[in-house]
Amino acid sequence: MKIFADTADIAAIRSLAEAGLIDGVTTNPSLIAKAGAHILAAVAEIAAIVDGPVSAEVAATDYDTMMREAAVLGKIAPNICIKLPLTMDGLRACRTLREEGRETNVTLCFSVNQAMLVAKAGATYVSPFVGRLDDINLDGAQLLRDIRTVFDNYPELDTQILAASLRSANHVTEAMLAGANAATLPPGVIEALVAHPLTDKGLQGFMADWASTGQSIL
Ligand code: E4P
Repeated sequence: MKIFADTADIAAIRSLAEAGLIDGVTTNPSLIAKAGAHILAAVAEIAAIVDGPVSAEVAATDYDTMMREAAVLGKIAPNICIKLPLTMDGLRACRTLREEGRETNVTLCFSVNQAMLVAKAGATYVSPFVGRLDDINLDGAQLLRDIRTVFDNYPELDTQILAASLRSANHVTEAMLAGANAATLPPGVIEALVAHPLTDKGLQGFMADWASTGQSIL
């Protein structure tokens, strides 16, 4: 499963990229606002750090303006993936961008029917929002499993499932078990995947025993 960083925080992206842990980045208007960055400058900097897809979201809601914004975003770097909202206009823009050979990520997916339409529009990625469904007492992981089943039932649909709105290590495990092609994770969740109390405890023990030997490798 590919791992994308779900952030516009340049320092965090640089650190994760240097560790070889990420295959791409996703941004959205809220993340750009949180980073206090200008979208064009931020996306250009991110696209220079990572080789994989960098999702940059249009801010318009009508087709014509979406297409004009997509043209601006797409010129920033070859690895820009145009992120579009899951609306009629967004799906139409997705179809046009597919015909132009651009990568797309259709966001704010909350149902299997929506995901099927995204795939029919030829998107590269569909982003089902797991955490926001859990927030309202629905089952986000079940949506991932249902989309996987439908996409497997119709192999002509070549859209990849990009599990989004993942808030915990458990969400990541559920995304992998559901067969998501990719997951986009806040940097804190990526760090949480590394951590395990038995790893920390085991390392402490090894270090204490090593110190008792008085040896040095270097
Ligand atoms: C990714 O594309 C989404 O914008 C993001 O994962 C949303 O996460 P949130 O529901 O935690 O805001």
